[in-house]
Amino acid sequence: MYDKILTSLSYGMCAVGAKGLTSGNACIVNTVIQISSLPMTIAVSINHSNYTNECIKRTGEFTVSVLSENTSGAVIGALGFTSGRDGNKLNNVRYKILREGIPVIQEDICCWFLCRVVNTVETVTHTIFIAEPVAGSESIKGKPMTYDFYINTIKGKSPKYSPTYIPEEEEIVERYTCSICKYEHIDPLIPFEELPQSWICPICGAPKSVFKKTG
Ligand SMILES: Cc1cc2nc3c(=O)[nH]c(=O)nc-3n(C[C@H](O)[C@H](O)[C@H](O)COP(=O)(O)O)c2cc1C
Repeated sequence: MYDKILTSLSYGMCAVGAKGLTSGNACIVNTVIQISSLPMTIAVSINHSNYTNECIKRTGEFTVSVLSENTSGAVIGALGFTSGRDGNKLNNVRYKILREGIPVIQEDICCWFLCRVVNTVETVTHTIFIAEPVAGSESIKGKPMTYDFYINTIKGKSPKYSPTYIPEEEEIVERYTCSICKYEHIDPLIPFEELPQSWICPICGAPKSVFKKTG
């Protein structure tokens, strides 16, 4: 499956800050990439359902804070698993507000930069914002947190509205129903076909042959 082999791609962990209607907002992303150096452009993919998407479309600006390996998992939890639509997510997070009114997350980050959107591309689920960094920190501190570090060292997960979300696979269990008493044989450990021919319905005692596959 493509979703499995795509887990071999590498990413960096960032917080994207944007100006909300009543307060600053931010979310976690792992999809910031540099597109070109002259002119310097970056891209980030933000789900249509995320409040941050709406905030960036309204203002055309956002900040990117590059998380470090020292950024606490609690910060990722606060910004990556709840929506700014449901309250101010920045209450327990260290940040500063730029002149433009946009928050910059400052939780043990490596560096940050302010971006102006120059183009957008719509996909079925995400908007790709293409933007130019116009200001930012002068140096890099610490070691940037990779997505691999988040998944395999912090043991973090990706929520539904992140691009790398993989739905849990449902266990496929076969179902056979007794045509006499309607007893259902659903046993993932012993498949129906592997039961001996002498096996009988545990409820009404009917032979195996009267069972029909119903799922
Ligand atoms: C590890 C991780 C990576 C994520 N990457 C992205 C991403 O690249 N794009 C995106 O739209 N959401 C991503 N998310 C999900 C958003 O951070 C999450 O849906 C958040 O609650 C959105 O908040 P908002 O509604 O305030 O914008 C990621 C979350 C985590 C934990």
